[in-house]
Amino acid sequence: MTNSKLENYKKRIFSGIQPTGNLHLGNYLGAIRNWVNLQKDFFSIFSIVDLHAITIPQKPSQLKSSTYEVAAAIIASGIDPKKAIVFNQSSVKEHAELAWIFNCVCKIGWLNRMTQFKEKAGKNREKASVGLYGYPVLMASDILLYKATHVPVGDDQKQHIELARDIASSFNNMFSGKNEKDFFILPEPQILGQATRVMSLRDGKKKMSKSDISDLSRINLTDTKEEISNKIKKAKTDPLPLPTSLEELENRPEASNLLNIYSSLSNQSIEFTLSQFSGKGFSFFKPKLIELAVETLNPISFEMRKLLKDTNEIDNILKNGADKAREIAEPILKDVKYLVGFII
Ligand code: AMP
Ligand code: TRP
Repeated sequence: MTNSKLENYKKRIFSGIQPTGNLHLGNYLGAIRNWVNLQKDFFSIFSIVDLHAITIPQKPSQLKSSTYEVAAAIIASGIDPKKAIVFNQSSVKEHAELAWIFNCVCKIGWLNRMTQFKEKAGKNREKASVGLYGYPVLMASDILLYKATHVPVGDDQKQHIELARDIASSFNNMFSGKNEKDFFILPEPQILGQATRVMSLRDGKKKMSKSDISDLSRINLTDTKEEISNKIKKAKTDPLPLPTSLEELENRPEASNLLNIYSSLSNQSIEFTLSQFSGKGFSFFKPKLIELAVETLNPISFEMRKLLKDTNEIDNILKNGADKAREIAEPILKDVKYLVGFII
């Protein structure tokens, strides 16, 4: 192993994805595709975070099928369960146990600042579950339970990782011995690539989201070639041709979004994409985008369908993953309990 590879192995990645609703292009470009690249060089742990999913009411049968679907998507996208740990969060009970301890470290004021809670709870705050409010505390326990050093996510999760850092340093101040080094390492967010925030195809100012009522707003990983084509054809645009410079893209959210998606899918800078298409209209650009999106997503949905035919294989992968995750989590939680003063 080269020195830089050895260095990378000291780094440990954790990330999660919720088994709710429709997995979409934003999840793929903002998260899953980066995980696939990172697993080669980093010790990686990826979780299907079902405990997070129930912070909003879920139908039990739907939760189960979404969990299989997300597992299939991760594997179909190229995560190798022999290299990386893949498991569903509720199978490792230590997540919930550490979350309780962190509930007693995290301050209400910190949670009151979380923008995702405000968005998800909306006007009906009083009716939101306590779980939805405490969601970021559980996320901190996911990360810190494995002493992860890096957390690859889309841009929307940055604030939650900052909270995990606050919880880690608060825990260190409260419980690490004065002469010892800090117990928790502060995890770093890894917000990678051109598409850290993929926007809705119907409104360039809104994030592409699993829960948007309009299916035309997002490209699902399970969409057929025809559906992808139809959604991109119908995607909102503006009447101007594509510009030459980034400055001219300001105040053109829909154009920026489609160009960002194109750049990300083709692994090139937005400047390069602009140089390819400047002066052209959307009627020229959209067919190229359709071609690229279909070329990337079709093999993934094909592989997903194959995996979902026999869920036994996914069951085995998740069970194996949970066993390996527990091996790391158990001793760390034991140390935490010792530091807090519990008799263990
Ligand atoms: P979630 O859909 O909330 O479970 O998110 C799973 C992962 O996908 C997280 O890393 C998110 O940051 C990322 N993600 C979700 N929506 C988007 C989006 N529209 N653009 C980029 N990344 C996203
Ligand atoms: N909150 C994340 C999301 O909705 C999912 C998540 C849960 C997560 N636990 C995590 C992401 C730990 C990274 C690390 O996207």
